[in-house]
Amino acid sequence: MLRVVVMVSGGGTNLQAILDAIDGGKITGASVEAVISNNRGAYALERAKKHGIPAVCVSPKDYEDRAAFNRALLEKVKEYQPDLVVLAGFLVTIPPEMIREYPGKIINIHPSLIPSFCGVGYYGLKVHEAALKRGVKVTGATVHYVDEGVDSGPIILQKAVEVKEGDTPEILQRRVMEEAEWKILPEAINRIANETCR
Ligand code: GAR
Repeated sequence: MLRVVVMVSGGGTNLQAILDAIDGGKITGASVEAVISNNRGAYALERAKKHGIPAVCVSPKDYEDRAAFNRALLEKVKEYQPDLVVLAGFLVTIPPEMIREYPGKIINIHPSLIPSFCGVGYYGLKVHEAALKRGVKVTGATVHYVDEGVDSGPIILQKAVEVKEGDTPEILQRRVMEEAEWKILPEAINRIANETCR
C-alpha cells in the first residue's frame, strides 16, 4: 500500500477528488495517511477530519523564522512515513531539505499547461488571470514531480481545457478543476501506486 501524505493550503477540492477516487476504487493500492496544512483555517483540514484522516496544521506563524518552520514541516511529514507526498494546492515553497529527503516522491498539481503560466508568482487564481490576460484559447492542468525549481520537475500528466468567451478567472478556475485537475491528480496517484508511470 502506497502511503500518501497530502499537503494543502485552502479549500481542498483536489484532496476531495483523491479521497473520492480512493473510495470509488479509481485509485487502488494507496491510502492517505495524513493531511498537512500551513493554514489553520483551511477547509481541506475539515474534509480530512470528516474522512477520519489525521488533519494537522504546521503554521509558519508558530515559528520564529522560516528555517524553524521548514524543519517542523519536514519532521511532521516524516512522522507519517510517506512513500508519496502530494501537493494539492499547497501554496508554500517546499524546503530543499524536504526535496532531498523525498527525491522523486513529491508531486504537485498546477492549474495550467506547464511551461505556460507557471513559476514564481503563478498560483491559484493568478494563473487563470494571466491566461485570460494573454488571451489563450486553451489552458489546462499539469501534474509533475517536484524538484528544487518552481514548477520545473518532470511532467507526469497534462489535460487541456477550453477557454470560453466571457470567462472570468473564477469561471475558468472552476472549469480547469472539474475537467482537468480532479481527474489527472487521482490518475497520477493511481499510476504511481501501481507503478505504471515510473
Ligand atoms: C488548485 O487549482 C491547484 O491547482 C492550485 O491551487 C488550487 C487549490 O484548490 N495550485 C497551485 O496554484 C500551485 N501552484 P483546492 O484547495 O480546492 O484543491
